[in-house]
Amino acid sequence: MTNVLKLNAISNKVEGVLKDGYTLSTDCQNPDAVLVRSFVMHEWPVPDTLKCVARAGAGVNNIPCDEYAKKGIVVFNTPGANANAVKELVIAAMLIATRNIFEGNKWANSLTGDDVKKQVEKGKSQFAGYEILGKTLGILGLGAIGRKVAATANALGMQVVGYDPYLSESAKAEIPFVTVFKEMDDVFKAGDFVSIHMPYTAEFKNLVNSDKLALMKDKSVLINCARGELVNVSDVKEAIKSGILAKYVVDFPDVDCLNCDGIIAIPHLGASTEEAEDNCAVMAAKEIKEFIEKGNIVNSVNMPNLKVENQMAHRLGVFYKGELNSIDNATVTTAVKGDIKYAIIDSDSPLTADMVKGDVIKARVIY
Ligand code: MLT
Repeated sequence: MTNVLKLNAISNKVEGVLKDGYTLSTDCQNPDAVLVRSFVMHEWPVPDTLKCVARAGAGVNNIPCDEYAKKGIVVFNTPGANANAVKELVIAAMLIATRNIFEGNKWANSLTGDDVKKQVEKGKSQFAGYEILGKTLGILGLGAIGRKVAATANALGMQVVGYDPYLSESAKAEIPFVTVFKEMDDVFKAGDFVSIHMPYTAEFKNLVNSDKLALMKDKSVLINCARGELVNVSDVKEAIKSGILAKYVVDFPDVDCLNCDGIIAIPHLGASTEEAEDNCAVMAAKEIKEFIEKGNIVNSVNMPNLKVENQMAHRLGVFYKGELNSIDNATVTTAVKGDIKYAIIDSDSPLTADMVKGDVIKARVIY
């Protein structure tokens, strides 16, 4: 039986994938696998039984991925599974920011009396906005979400520019309407809107700071549906005061973002749709199943990805460094990420973990 621990509420669609041979629970002491959303695992005591963690979402900054890699624990994410949901919130963020929807709604709800219709017509001009058609959207990070945002913005008649040093040629070909800059600063300079779609790692803490904000056009809009830590909030407040920023829309608010003029705080709703939650849960559950049952690694963020299909009777999965000894009558397929290697060893003769010698991090008989 494979024990799967859910550290957050996860769509029950996982039950359709992890059926026979799996136990799903929220309090298991000896999990083989963990399903997680935003639970912070940095201080979480790691059980010896743990083989993999699947994050139902894109960001993995709540998981100590490097530390887990050293222990032979695979961390997966679900790239693209919630991209449409986040994209829709980004489009909403632009419209909320430009049409003063929240401010107008608050004012409308404050009206009293029998002549509300009259008051509405008289007072509405204070909330007049502007259109996104023809404006320029700058996108930082052209991964699954960034590319979807780009396509929809383009369909809405916006000019789109972007920056992503890891953009592959095939991904670039999906968005021919985007001007891709070589320098990040050019996105800040060109955009009437700048939307961040980068993963958060320590090197990107406060990436958007007073230096970057100073490059932006007056009265621009900054949208952050990525991670709060990417933006220096006190610099944003200064930029709002000085008129560089008209609005900062943030889906990861901390206390400094609340009840501030010009800051629109949303409570991490980017991926909170029924569809995205189901998609992420199913993809995460499939990744666990594929690894537990076949040793295949798909969409790992901390280990080499490797998928091997064959009909041999026995399989061993080995994480190691350096070189492995050879095993008679076995087919070995390897992949590498950084200094960690993963080997899938297939044979028609039985395999045991002690057959592999060398700098082995973890060896597991898959079947
Ligand atoms: C993500 O990183 O994809 C989101 O934070 C997912 C979520 O809302 O859990």
